[in-house]
Amino acid sequence: MTLSAEELGARIEDRSSAGIARAVGRMVTSGALDPGTLMPPVRALAGVLGVSPMTISGAWKVLAADGLLSARGRAGTVVLDPTATASTARRRRIAALGAPVTLDLSTGGPDPALLPDLAPALSRLADLELPDGYQSDPVLPRLERVLRKRWPFPPGSLTVVDGAGDALDRIVSLVVRRGSPVVVEDPGYPPLLDLLEAAGAELVGVGLDGEGIRPDSLRQGLRAGPVAVFAQPRAQNPTGASMSAARARELARLLEGTDVVVVEDDHSGDIATAPAVSIGRWLPEATVQIASFSKSHGPDLRLAAVGGSARVVDAIAERRLLGAGWSSRLLQHVLADLLVDPAAISAVRGARRTYTRRRRDAFGALTARGVRTAGGDGINLWVEVADEDRALATLLAAGIGAARGSVFVVSPSDPHIRLTVGRLSGDTAAFADAVAAAAAPPPRRVTR
Ligand SMILES: Cc1ncc(COP(=O)(O)O)c(C=O)c1O
Repeated sequence: MTLSAEELGARIEDRSSAGIARAVGRMVTSGALDPGTLMPPVRALAGVLGVSPMTISGAWKVLAADGLLSARGRAGTVVLDPTATASTARRRRIAALGAPVTLDLSTGGPDPALLPDLAPALSRLADLELPDGYQSDPVLPRLERVLRKRWPFPPGSLTVVDGAGDALDRIVSLVVRRGSPVVVEDPGYPPLLDLLEAAGAELVGVGLDGEGIRPDSLRQGLRAGPVAVFAQPRAQNPTGASMSAARARELARLLEGTDVVVVEDDHSGDIATAPAVSIGRWLPEATVQIASFSKSHGPDLRLAAVGGSARVVDAIAERRLLGAGWSSRLLQHVLADLLVDPAAISAVRGARRTYTRRRRDAFGALTARGVRTAGGDGINLWVEVADEDRALATLLAAGIGAARGSVFVVSPSDPHIRLTVGRLSGDTAAFADAVAAAAAPPPRRVTR
């Protein structure tokens, strides 16, 4: 349906840019304008209202940022569905569903058997004086001290949220507007790609090598004028790459002088073997790093810290006061305890070694069978296959769950699967045989 400038103009009283945005916004959210309705040309509406075309374009920009209108170039500006919910398309498609699996390597999560025992820290909780509900700092001072000491650069501000996923969600809401170009690793973390797409970001994928984001690829990506760069500094999911200090410095040089926010998602934390690095060492005002404790200390602690640029971190903490307020300080006490307790530190060190051994064994066994694999750090291997669907189905038939590679990629690429071999405690040879069979092209039918 097309709306005439006269029809729309008659329903607008306040002719300021903000007034027009409010009136049209109300029409869209109340359902008075159906999704798909084509707005009249800017000049025609400006003529009817007796305002400059800039006033109308300003209002359209506000409504586009709110996800209520979409500018489609020559095709005009159309009404969007205000009830459209965030897509979780990639997240939903990660694992192939079907037969029950005996070995689920699709998860990307830690081996529960390798997490530190929480019982001693929980029992010590009983002796502590707990903070006074609403009046206390959102971050437990005891935890903040420990975190600041281990941070890879002096953070302007630091706060604690409910996991790296929560941190990414909050940062995206703060930094990304509809139509904002955002640089992401390609391949990268599927729920982040979903989150950015739901926020209306334009994804600009950049390539990786063994040391992280490739400088030539970032240089190219920066031409799109991104508002932010999202990167994983260690044990990148899915490729396992860890950023070297030299690379961090090189990337910092490229970002210097821009107003791009750098978001580093250190999701693997203490289970990564590479040392903690950050572009924040060179660009502390522009960088925030997220430190998750899910893989090292347990996903159900549901805690991650966000530290760095005070502008970004303070805005997150401030906004959060209107909702959850803070992350459970009971759990913050448990984490603070685990980070200094010698038994817990030794358990995490042991887990890191076990993951390294399992990853190397699996990598070696696959390479020996001619399967091309990446995985320098962490718990995952990124495995080339001839055909994703066939590979997933073949593994499923062998009782092995794997993650679909295409949900990690931004631009079309060769087919892959991701295998969380950190959870592989059994027979590596049998596993590698199954993966080699799954990765191979289908046997050619012999025709006579
Ligand atoms: C790259 C990446 N970011 C974030 C997360 C979510 O972490 P958390 O459990 O701390 O929310 C994961 C989980 O696997 C991840 O792989």
